[in-house]
Amino acid sequence: MSSIKLLITLHFIGGWWNANIIEIEEQAQADGHGPNIFNAFTINGWPGDLYDCSSTGQTIDVLLTADQPLASYYMSAHCYDTLGDAYDATTTTGIVTYENATPSSPLMPNLPAVDDTSVAFEFYPSLTSLLNGPHWAPVPLEIDEQMFVTEGLGLVPCGANNTCGAPLGLAFAASMNNESFELPTKLEAFYYNLTAGIYTTDFPKYPPVVFNYTSLSNNLNKALVMTSRSTKVTKLKYNSTVQIVFQNTALVGQQSHPVHLHGFNFYVLAQGFGNYDPVIGQKMFNLINPQIRNTAGVPVGGWTVIRFTANNPGVWCLGAIAPLMPILVDNGVVALA
Ligand SMILES: *[C@@H]1O[C@H](CO)[C@@H](O)[C@H](O)[C@H]1NC(C)=O
Ligand SMILES: *[C@@H]1O[C@H](CO)[C@@H](O)[C@H](O)[C@H]1NC(C)=O
Ligand SMILES: *[C@@H]1O[C@H](CO)[C@@H](O)[C@H](O)[C@H]1NC(C)=O
Ligand SMILES: *[C@@H]1O[C@H](CO)[C@@H](O)[C@H](O)[C@H]1NC(C)=O
Ligand SMILES: *[C@@H]1O[C@H](CO)[C@@H](O)[C@H](O)[C@H]1NC(C)=O
Repeated sequence: MSSIKLLITLHFIGGWWNANIIEIEEQAQADGHGPNIFNAFTINGWPGDLYDCSSTGQTIDVLLTADQPLASYYMSAHCYDTLGDAYDATTTTGIVTYENATPSSPLMPNLPAVDDTSVAFEFYPSLTSLLNGPHWAPVPLEIDEQMFVTEGLGLVPCGANNTCGAPLGLAFAASMNNESFELPTKLEAFYYNLTAGIYTTDFPKYPPVVFNYTSLSNNLNKALVMTSRSTKVTKLKYNSTVQIVFQNTALVGQQSHPVHLHGFNFYVLAQGFGNYDPVIGQKMFNLINPQIRNTAGVPVGGWTVIRFTANNPGVWCLGAIAPLMPILVDNGVVALA
């Protein structure tokens, strides 16, 4: 039988909440933790037939070789979770049915365990782009801006008369380079040139303290774990090439974090475990056909390196568990002046 390759674009995968998402976000902002668990995973916006209910997510283009016996098959996905937190345990599904297959129940693949980090990070770094495929652009080899950004949880004081659920009776605050971003009161400040007292453009390019980021013995080290809120943003010249190393910390607890950048796609050059070592890390860079994404996982106790061109002027959020580092890209005219 000849095999057929299908190109499928999957919004793979999203989450769907049966609640007011504004309220969910406000609550997540207030306690500094991730949002409440959602009610369904989705593929292309649909939860699949294992849910009894009828969204957006990360997209991925996959080539599928249709060379299996004529039948119906589930394509399915579930959560990857490193914290043992509450999560939605249902499997989201789509069904691939071969033409001329006799109607039958779809066959279900075996999925890895939800906390199987080795499977997850054999899978993610093995993805590549289709060289010279649609939308392909070569990886820029010259870098204008480099950043090394630690990300993880920290602790902030619990407001007066509040009870906070984080360790030491404090409140969680997700941070990058020890800055826990707080949404400014005026979101249109950039447009109206109202910088004073609203935001500053001094987001640190490197962590303020160098320590063993991935050592669990630091997780409740009071000298390291406290953080503070700020409205610091990163300002980039229009069209500059930016490389960011994201390093997960083990502060408060170890987690795998997805990094999501609005306004841009980026190349994922390499991912690994432990504290990032620039010499070893650079040898792992895929500069030929790296995947192009707007969301990438940073492995639990590990790091991810991305590169992108700042060619979309405006104010954009770089988020992980919370919106953490806004990026402000000058508009082209200003940069060229
Ligand atoms: C905390 O509670 C005390 C005693 O009830 C009250 O006097 C104080 O105003 C409260 N503080 C805040 C910030 O709500
Ligand atoms: C902000 O400043 C820029 C450069 O000085 C100017 O061109 C622009 O008109 C100002 N924008 C507003 C809304 O005042
Ligand atoms: C950092 O901590 C990890 C985990 O405890 C340990 O294996 C590693 O040797 C430490 N690295 C350094 C440079 O101390
Ligand atoms: C983060 O900043 C706080 C002060 O806000 C400081 O106590 C702590 O040591 C810093 N931690 C790290 C890891 O930089
Ligand atoms: C952006 O950078 C690329 C690569 O350096 C260059 O070819 C292009 O002319 C630049 N575009 C603008 C509008 O500056």
